[in-house]
Amino acid sequence: MPPGREGFQNWNPGKNAVAILFAAHAPLRAQSRVMQTIFESRPLEQVEAGALVVPVFEGRKETRFGAGDLCEAGEIAGKPLELTLVHGAPGVAAKRVLFAGAGKLDKFDPAELRKLAGAAVRHLKSKSVKTIALALDPDQAKPENVSAAVEGAILGDYEPDRYKTGNDKKTVDVFALVAAGGRGLEEAVTRGRILAEAQNLTRDLVNEPANLLTPSKIAEAAQQMASEYRLQCEVLDAAQMEKLGMGALLGVSQGSAEPPAFIVIRYQPAQAGAPGVHLGLVGKGVTFDTGGISIKPADGMEKMKYDMAGGASMIGALRAIAQLKPAIPVTAFIPCVENMPGSRAQRPGDIVTAMSGKTIEVINTDAEGRLILADALSYARRQGCTHLVDAATLTGAIVVALGHLNVGLFANEDAMRDRVLGAARAEGERMWAMPLEDDYKEYLKSAFADLANVGGRWGGAVTAAMFLKEFAEDTPWVHLDIAGTAWLDEAKPYLAKGPSGVAVRTLVRLAMDWK
Ligand code: BES
Ligand code: ZN
Ligand code: ZN
Repeated sequence: MPPGREGFQNWNPGKNAVAILFAAHAPLRAQSRVMQTIFESRPLEQVEAGALVVPVFEGRKETRFGAGDLCEAGEIAGKPLELTLVHGAPGVAAKRVLFAGAGKLDKFDPAELRKLAGAAVRHLKSKSVKTIALALDPDQAKPENVSAAVEGAILGDYEPDRYKTGNDKKTVDVFALVAAGGRGLEEAVTRGRILAEAQNLTRDLVNEPANLLTPSKIAEAAQQMASEYRLQCEVLDAAQMEKLGMGALLGVSQGSAEPPAFIVIRYQPAQAGAPGVHLGLVGKGVTFDTGGISIKPADGMEKMKYDMAGGASMIGALRAIAQLKPAIPVTAFIPCVENMPGSRAQRPGDIVTAMSGKTIEVINTDAEGRLILADALSYARRQGCTHLVDAATLTGAIVVALGHLNVGLFANEDAMRDRVLGAARAEGERMWAMPLEDDYKEYLKSAFADLANVGGRWGGAVTAAMFLKEFAEDTPWVHLDIAGTAWLDEAKPYLAKGPSGVAVRTLVRLAMDWK
């Protein structure tokens, strides 16, 4: 241990402490950083951490650890994510106390705690604090809070800095949850760890630049994950796609020198819980979207490495599913291509035949996501999926409609829509139901083929969803447009700038809660 680092050799766990090692997942490169988390049932005063994080609720005067005067002075008000760091607070062994605003008590929920934990970790990490303990009041020490706090800490700790070579990276060694009298919450710690690590795997994949993460490389990462967690994984190559008649997918891929890859990852429960159900998770895997011949403007194009975020969320979700073992079979389908304007690229006006037999006039080669998803949805149906969810960075129009706050959710069936909305709400992921009425089909008319791949100027997110609906056919299906939410243009107090890993937690809960 280098001098001056607050060691965790000083950490003195109580006798009920459970230590779990947290390894940030590294699909493509060995990662050296390990953050440990501990759940402890012991009096807060005894916790010897670099910092003890104490949530403070709005309108409730905190008097412990010298907070009384600061509350009187209005310096601590308990507003959400307000952070006040105090050194040498009275009555604690911890070096510092971080009073963390938790908002109104009646509005406090796991989502708030997740953010609070993330903000605390990010703030303390920036101050080079190495060991962090978060205090939970006994009445807050319940499984869903414990999971959320652990998730918040691990998600907040994540930095998309893999390709920065300096040795000045700040790291946290230990994150502990402390609840006096809390017991039996180890399982909740594990659940939180599994979910957050899966989400961080997704973020790692999305963060990879497109020169290093080609379709073949995503397939490798998926296979590596699958073999680590004992899932079945196959990767279809172009010849197999040709045989299956995936003309829509192959049309997109033909402009790139990189071959396409269609990843299939299967989870099978030991005993099926809900007979006859087979959930298919379909994720858009465009490793880079130049727009093709309908090329995008240069400004901001670098962000289009994130166009495989839907696919990456399915890889993350399957990893967590392999560990948490829901009762239903779940299969991920991830069509991976690079959308390039090469000399063999498809042209506007080209007509392709999708696997379902429908013909598509490609009006705009930049509307490529729906083309590859069309064939992926058909394939998932042919593989026997009874219910489908897709996630895709599909349209700029969803960003216009909902900004960066809500995932756009489209469904062809109310029950399926409500299941996904319920899972999202429980996981604190904001999703908003959008319309998907048959009248919108008009917009996709083509004079020369069964349908066009774009629907004109208006309602772009809806017409994109409408296009997919043609290929989901009568299978209950939900489409998540994550174009506005998969990437944070600015850091939040509790999350780094860059990939967010959105939808992973919702998809895992959807599978776990299936009755
Ligand atoms: N990957 C993009 C979606 C996108 C666009 C995300 C802008 C974030 C910002 C997708 O493939 C695309 O280019 N969609 C087009 C569709 C249009 C040509 C009908 C879009 O939204 O502009
Ligand atoms: Zn595009
Ligand atoms: Zn795209």
